[in-house]
Amino acid sequence: MRSLLKCDLVSIDDLTLPEIERIFVLADDFAVALERGEKLKAADGLIMATLFYEPSTRTRLSFESAMHRLGGSVISSADMHASSAAKGESLADTVRVVGSYADLIVVRHPRDGAARVAAEYAPCPVFNAGDGSREHPSQTLCDLYILRKRKGQLKGLTVAICGDLKFGRTVHSLIYALARFGANIVTVPQAGMEVPDYVLERIAIERNYRFSTVSMGELSSLAGDGRLDALYLTPKAPHQMALFTSDLPLSDLPSGKAPATLDAFYVTRLQRERLPDRNTSPESYVHFDARALKGSRSQGAVVMHPLPRTDELAYELDNDPRAAYFEQAAAGVPVRMALIGWLLEQAARGEQRHPLAPAAPRFRPQPALRCANSNCVTRHESAYLAPRFTLARSSGRSRLMLRCDFCERELSAEFVGHVRTRRFYRFDEHLRGYVRQWIDEKSLAVFESVKQAEENGYEPYRRGPQREIMNATEIARALDELAAQVVTDLPDAGNLVIAGIISHGALIALRLRELIEARTAVRPPCLTLDVYNTADPVRLIDGGDEIDVTGRTVILVDDVMHTGWTVQRAMAILWQRGRPAAVKLAVLIDRGHRAIPIRPNYVGKNIPTAQSERVQVRLDPDPGDSQHKSADRVVIYSILESIKEPAAAP
Ligand code: CP
Repeated sequence: MRSLLKCDLVSIDDLTLPEIERIFVLADDFAVALERGEKLKAADGLIMATLFYEPSTRTRLSFESAMHRLGGSVISSADMHASSAAKGESLADTVRVVGSYADLIVVRHPRDGAARVAAEYAPCPVFNAGDGSREHPSQTLCDLYILRKRKGQLKGLTVAICGDLKFGRTVHSLIYALARFGANIVTVPQAGMEVPDYVLERIAIERNYRFSTVSMGELSSLAGDGRLDALYLTPKAPHQMALFTSDLPLSDLPSGKAPATLDAFYVTRLQRERLPDRNTSPESYVHFDARALKGSRSQGAVVMHPLPRTDELAYELDNDPRAAYFEQAAAGVPVRMALIGWLLEQAARGEQRHPLAPAAPRFRPQPALRCANSNCVTRHESAYLAPRFTLARSSGRSRLMLRCDFCERELSAEFVGHVRTRRFYRFDEHLRGYVRQWIDEKSLAVFESVKQAEENGYEPYRRGPQREIMNATEIARALDELAAQVVTDLPDAGNLVIAGIISHGALIALRLRELIEARTAVRPPCLTLDVYNTADPVRLIDGGDEIDVTGRTVILVDDVMHTGWTVQRAMAILWQRGRPAAVKLAVLIDRGHRAIPIRPNYVGKNIPTAQSERVQVRLDPDPGDSQHKSADRVVIYSILESIKEPAAAP
């Protein structure tokens, strides 16, 4: 059996420009061979598996046709919902198994970053056929192939990309590629659907682009009906082209040298399936018709679209010689044949390719930090997939900026720590060198809050003296008072569920349940909520299956309430498990300083504090042991600022 080299195509940036050029040469050859009706055997004996977790016509059928045309075979699951994915099989397990049945896997998946996961777990090469709103590299090969055929070259072209530029994965791959080929890009986003920051930053930092803006309403100016010259910025350096994406009116943009013509319009549909509510539409979405091609600048422009179209592209354009979209779709077969042919060439050469760019060090901070993007594959395949990050190239002065290694979204953290010294620090510029060192040593810890650092057993780098503000007797009295408040307010104890936020909130919840039971003779169910655990955040204390909180009154319990952030996150977890009739909040200590407008219903003690102060509750985990219980206490201390001098760090 022939084996292919493990050359994955996850991003268009996985291919060098000479490799893309080579694929175009192969595509030309295959197009001629197809035209001549030649029977090709290049992929004889090879099997391609197509795993499409989302609908497709062009990508799937053209990949499958390409493999058949090359003499290979295709295996597939007609509908992934009828595969073992429907039984809950993970993506990793699926591609591992299918990789032992096939030589190449083509995967489309709704989650951002899923193609990278497939590539990492499959034993054979993986081609990304679209992963969430991230990338669609083989579509870009078709787009570039036709654009270059129509225009003779890519360098120096000016391409206007219109529509849903936020979720449009074809657009993101196209932007990366056009930037590398030295084309000018004008983005014309639907309002609210601008090119995402992570895409802009990738080309801004790696390719030194500058940005500015064109709104959808200015499409006609762009086409040549109005003044356009002010729109263009002068490149700072040769081959550094301008990408226009901000909200400035045309008149506010610095003037520069305007290209005489627009070479292409790339129109995209609204990616309705990625909207939080698929039934809502933006008030007006672009409708591109023959009028856009009448402007002085646009008469020679080709009209492109990755298809399928909905209402954004008029059918009247179909017979216009400038319409290129059916050619793009038809190119799917020779271009994807070329991609397979390129893979065969790599195998014939027999040597692994070198990584295109030295990868930034990847790391998994401890404790696991979850990606901020709710559609990131790490949030949906969390049973085995630990979030992984690189240091973002953009930097915050007072926050550590991280980039998810799967979906590329950035997130920032305010606190960093060292896993061996168990100290944490408020991040600032001075710590950057240490953070790099700790990444290399695999000893970086990252925290979203002081509370999270403390919950994980970390101490602040420096702190002022501790002072006890409640002893065991006072804590017991405050808890008794909390139980009395709950029972007076909610006499129907049979409808209660008590939910404690891990860790000390959970200990308090258990004690509160005992006290409520003593007063009512009813023992309400008790669960714990771990706001930092995305995979399994809810546990029933008494064991058993998950409890349905619908229609019940939940007493949410935490030890200290400060900003309200932890409580907000706990509520979001609760809400994912049903709609309680009411959620009441019980806290042992209310510090004030709320960033989020949440007020506790039952408070053991109000302790107004300064922002820099910390209140720490220490409870014995075994409340039955009265000897230990007397060790319960609440202390207050101040966090002193983190180090300013590098020499002071560990
Ligand atoms: N352009 C594109 O990806 O089309 P399909 O969704 O039909 O594959």
